[in-house]
Amino acid sequence: MTTPTFTSSLRLEPLLPRHRALLLTMFEDQRVWTYLDGSPADAEKTTTRFIDAAELSRCATGLGIWTAFLRADSADGRLPSGTFVGIGGVRTLSADLWNLGLSIAPAAWGRGYATELATAAVNAAQVSFPNRTVTARTLAKNAGSERALISAGLRVVWRGPSAAHPGEEARILTDRQPRGSELEWLIHSS
Ligand SMILES: CC(C)(COP(=O)(O)OP(=O)(O)OC[C@H]1O[C@@H](n2cnc3c(N)ncnc32)[C@H](O)[C@@H]1OP(=O)(O)O)[C@@H](O)C(=O)NCCC(=O)NCCS
Repeated sequence: MTTPTFTSSLRLEPLLPRHRALLLTMFEDQRVWTYLDGSPADAEKTTTRFIDAAELSRCATGLGIWTAFLRADSADGRLPSGTFVGIGGVRTLSADLWNLGLSIAPAAWGRGYATELATAAVNAAQVSFPNRTVTARTLAKNAGSERALISAGLRVVWRGPSAAHPGEEARILTDRQPRGSELEWLIHSS
């Protein structure tokens, strides 16, 4: 499905291989990695991971990660119509779980777009798959991401040491109480 979805400021298109150069530019920017574990050297593999995950999720469910652009009626002197804003949305983790992820291009930070994108993703997931839990994992140092996810309706259900990023504190957020086995799985991949 390639039909765009519209939010108040954004046009959301399914993330496709043709968006690769936009993602690469974003992930080659050191500022994007300030609050994440990684570096611009990871740009190629991170871009490929997002594109592949988006396609897999979309093929399986019709829903996947979006690429966000600024709507014409939200343009201003600094960001023109059609500006690439970032990527975000849900991808399938299992038959019962979504993963919600976000990455906003630095030029578009601080304008509420992460919150707008996360809110659209939670709504789309809950409407299309009401029985499937929306989950997100962030590092504690990424306060902006956690704020956006909470504003989108998720709540923190676990805080503790990250399994995937030694030395970092992680957070798990969900839109409902996960089952014990689901939480265990999320903690092991946090
Ligand atoms: C973190 C990120 C998603 C925030 O995007 P954004 O569009 O600037 O966020 P919003 O404007 O919607 O702001 C969301 C909230 O976070 C706060 N916030 C944003 N950046 C913040 C920061 N660096 N530190 C603390 N709070 C921050 C905002 O003030 C806002 O708070 P509020 O809801 O209380 O008003 C963006 O900076 C980003 O993509 N960073 C790099 C990649 C990344 O971290 N991805 C997330 C991986 S889980």
